[in-house]
Amino acid sequence: MDKLDLKILKYLKDKKEIDLSNFSKKTGLSKEKIKNRFKKIEAIYSLHEINEFDVDPTSGKLFAYVYETGEKDLKDIAMEAFNLYAEKNVLDFTVFKSDILFEREIVNFGKKLMHGNENVVGTVTYGGTESIFLAVKAARDRYKKLYGKDKVPEIIAPVTIHPAFLKAADYMVLNIKRVPVNENLKANIESIKESITDKTALIAISAPNWPYGTIDDVKDISDIALDKNIPLHVDSCVGGFILPFFEMLDEKVPPFDFRVPGVSSISLDVHKYGYTTKGASIVLFSSPDYKKFSIYVDSTSPGYLFVNQAVLSSRSVGPFAAAYATIKYLGIDGYKRLAKKVLIARDRIYSGLKELGFRSTGPVESSILSLYSDKVDLLGYAYNMKNKGWHISLQKPVKDYNIPLNIHLTISPVHYRVAQRFIIDSRESISIPSKINMQEIKNLIENGEMGKVVEYLENGSIDSGIIPILLENLPEDIASDLVKDIVIGWFK
Ligand SMILES: Cc1ncc(COP(=O)(O)O)c(C=O)c1O
Repeated sequence: MDKLDLKILKYLKDKKEIDLSNFSKKTGLSKEKIKNRFKKIEAIYSLHEINEFDVDPTSGKLFAYVYETGEKDLKDIAMEAFNLYAEKNVLDFTVFKSDILFEREIVNFGKKLMHGNENVVGTVTYGGTESIFLAVKAARDRYKKLYGKDKVPEIIAPVTIHPAFLKAADYMVLNIKRVPVNENLKANIESIKESITDKTALIAISAPNWPYGTIDDVKDISDIALDKNIPLHVDSCVGGFILPFFEMLDEKVPPFDFRVPGVSSISLDVHKYGYTTKGASIVLFSSPDYKKFSIYVDSTSPGYLFVNQAVLSSRSVGPFAAAYATIKYLGIDGYKRLAKKVLIARDRIYSGLKELGFRSTGPVESSILSLYSDKVDLLGYAYNMKNKGWHISLQKPVKDYNIPLNIHLTISPVHYRVAQRFIIDSRESISIPSKINMQEIKNLIENGEMGKVVEYLENGSIDSGIIPILLENLPEDIASDLVKDIVIGWFK
């Protein structure tokens, strides 16, 4: 910003009347030019104003959504790459060849982490959900090729599987059979076996799952998949860029990648523990033949040859450039160093909260903590923590598996810096009564007074994290309808 820009900014901040003639006279610039400068600064200024609505993603006070390292150099590199390639389009990689280079490098790094052999190939997508869509499409189209098109194929997955699989099944017309978890919150192997039919197109499991951070028994499930000739997808969206480094740091990590012979596809997100900007995930396939099922090509339309490796078509190359640059900058050593921070932070937070009466819902096997307490009112705790700036997600109880109401914490490198403060604030938060009146909110929902609920969500009186708990006792279709109403109201 030059002197004039700063002056204009001051005018905007002070909400002063703008006299274009006066500005023009003083600067010697035409009225038109001054007007354009105002428009530009006004647009930028409004961005900064809107920014105030958000939680600062770099603060370390979030335990979901962002995977913050707290390292400025890393961010600068990713942003520079992002901006440099922002206007290039993945749609035609024969024109923007940089896309091919970035995807190759990103896929090769992911393949190395997942111990893929020379047959393993992959695609870079805009996120975990998109990677999962491609894995589901590959399994569906393989099934249809092998067994015909008249049956609706099925996916077998534990209840802990990410909802992206349900969404993919819904969009691509597959059925999904969800099997229970065992006492360690891992997919029940017997149930998987019993659920297999001649319609099974895919078994999907997690390493780790999002809700509890536990890793399914990939090896045992792979034996079943191989025996029945069914593809096995390992969703390692959250684990793919952290578990390999935990293993390098001598943590016990059960085998979950291509070292297990029945694994036919893996999703792993660069925009999670790969620490790049949002918009980068990898889906790996065990062979080019299998990947082929995930690609969409249309050569019949009169326009351009339509070749989509991913779900979306036109996309900016920016996120891929950022992912490439981040991987190049960090390399194995950088990721290992950050994984060490995650481990230390996880252990500090876990042991600090254990002292306050929290317990883990299952074995702690990853960078995710899911904790309950018989002593602490978790709703009040989360609310009080929110008043101290911390955002803690609540997960509803699941009676069928004796899982109580629990908090969910995804640990990032930045938490290494704030772990101690977090425990101090937690200690305080459990000792003061909370102002939240859950009953009033429950009544509003039951009476269909969604306008009021939307208002409370908007003004921050209640956090969206409690919605699943409020909806817990409603039938599924009514609950999802209510949520849609809230969202429509919010975006109106
Ligand atoms: C295990 C798992 N799979 C898939 C996803 C979906 O990823 P995305 O939000 O990038 O679509 C997530 C997101 O948190 C996840 O935790």
